[in-house]
Amino acid sequence: MNRPYIICHMVTSIDGKVTGDFLSKPECKSACEIYYDINRNVKSNGFICGRVTMEGSFTGGYYPDLSKYEPAEFPLGHKMDFMLDDMSGFYAIAFDPKGKLGWKSNKIIDPDGDPGYDGAQIIEVLTEQADDRYLSYLMDMEIPFIIAGETEIDVDFALFKLKNIIGCETLLLEGGSIINGAFQRADVIDELSLVVAPIVADKNDKPLFMDSTVSNFELTKSETKNGNLVLNYKRK
Ligand SMILES: NC(=O)c1ccc[n+]([C@@H]2O[C@H](COP(=O)([O-])OP(=O)(O)OC[C@H]3O[C@@H](n4cnc5c(N)ncnc54)[C@H](OP(=O)(O)O)[C@@H]3O)[C@@H](O)[C@H]2O)c1
Repeated sequence: MNRPYIICHMVTSIDGKVTGDFLSKPECKSACEIYYDINRNVKSNGFICGRVTMEGSFTGGYYPDLSKYEPAEFPLGHKMDFMLDDMSGFYAIAFDPKGKLGWKSNKIIDPDGDPGYDGAQIIEVLTEQADDRYLSYLMDMEIPFIIAGETEIDVDFALFKLKNIIGCETLLLEGGSIINGAFQRADVIDELSLVVAPIVADKNDKPLFMDSTVSNFELTKSETKNGNLVLNYKRK
């Protein structure tokens, strides 16, 4: 396979939603604990999240002052990927088409020291739309980036690069709804790992896959744990 094996790992409500206030309700607490426990134990090279999830979970809306940076220059006239000499480790891969995420470190610093996240090497996946000064800022911060697409991230191309340049064999896809939908439409989800909490979400909350198309999965595991359903599906 010319791309990493993708496991979409999510907490859902009974009605298949993945965003919104239900996630922080007491009824969802044990589902979240099970989710983090699975996250820690799956063997993978890292996790992928959409820009909104990365902002909510890790960057908190920080953005650097780009006026301090000269635009990055590329000899071939188009943006090129940037890698570190040592790219080994566990990766936090941000799908951030326009370069909106501000990082204060090139590694994830998890306040609880959760080994499923803490210390992960940040990688930005961007498009040609990203500001050249933002690319200078990433280089200065020693945050590797790959360019995959003109205005929208080309999921297939990004995954091709993550496998062939960085060597990712297995990656977790951990939301939210919009990025999951882009992966589902690109038909690159090999496995689904779901923890279904005993709660119904609000009508405004978003589904597991935003703007999905029809695709088939085979149920390979189902168990109950502390009142939650723990499900695993493989692509058919
Ligand atoms: N239930 C769970 O297990 C779980 C897990 C993770 C997150 N979440 C929840 O999910 C929420 C966020 O979900 P979300 O659906 O709003 O956002 P998201 O999927 O986290 O991020 C969406 C953004 O990613 C960027 N993006 C990257 N590649 C894209 C592509 N190919 N197509 C479209 N957009 C692409 C776009 O950024 P730009 O807007 O910059 O263009 C887009 O707006 C969070 O609030 C969090 O609570 C839940």
